[in-house]
Amino acid sequence: MARTSLHPDVAEVLISQARIRRRIAALAREIARCYGHAEVSIIGVLNGSMVFLGELLRQLPMQTRLDSVVARSYGARTTSNGRVSIRRPWHLSLRRKHVLLVDDILDTGRTLRRICERIRRENPASLRTCVLLDKPSRRVVPFTADFVGFTIPDKFVVGYGLDFAERYRNLPYIAVLRRGI
Ligand code: XMP
Repeated sequence: MARTSLHPDVAEVLISQARIRRRIAALAREIARCYGHAEVSIIGVLNGSMVFLGELLRQLPMQTRLDSVVARSYGARTTSNGRVSIRRPWHLSLRRKHVLLVDDILDTGRTLRRICERIRRENPASLRTCVLLDKPSRRVVPFTADFVGFTIPDKFVVGYGLDFAERYRNLPYIAVLRRGI
């Protein structure tokens, strides 16, 4: 079996691979309980949700349809008027469907709020959200996800799909980078 060595740019592992796997399995059970046998249309927010969603999806027992959305924020994330635009919307029809929107992290809340507004225009039967990580201390707009993997402190994290300049998405744990990377 391959040895898992720590990436040299990592200062701290916040959540280990084993904990993430256990939590995703529990999330899949929560989601299955919520929807029962109903079909669920899953929309993943790219690129960040790819790794998390790949693992979650394989553990969902119900019928699913899968699509994705690409959103971009304009202006620094630290400013209060950062706007989010949908760069590439989903293709599936969501009318009268049970929609589950999945993202890697809920931070200021702007991204999910914006995408939810757009999905609601299609009159889905229901709309819920699922995130691997939640940083409630950073919220700028009120937003609560229906399914949350882990609540974390206000630290910039990478791994399990989360990036810094498109790097580190492949780390199998959630980590904080060393200063000055
Ligand atoms: P908002 O602020 O719209 O943010 O809720 C959601 C998006 O912000 C990015 N984000 C992060 N990405 N480490 C990352 O790699 C972080 O700690 C972090 N915090 C926010 C992410 O793209 C997410 O989809």
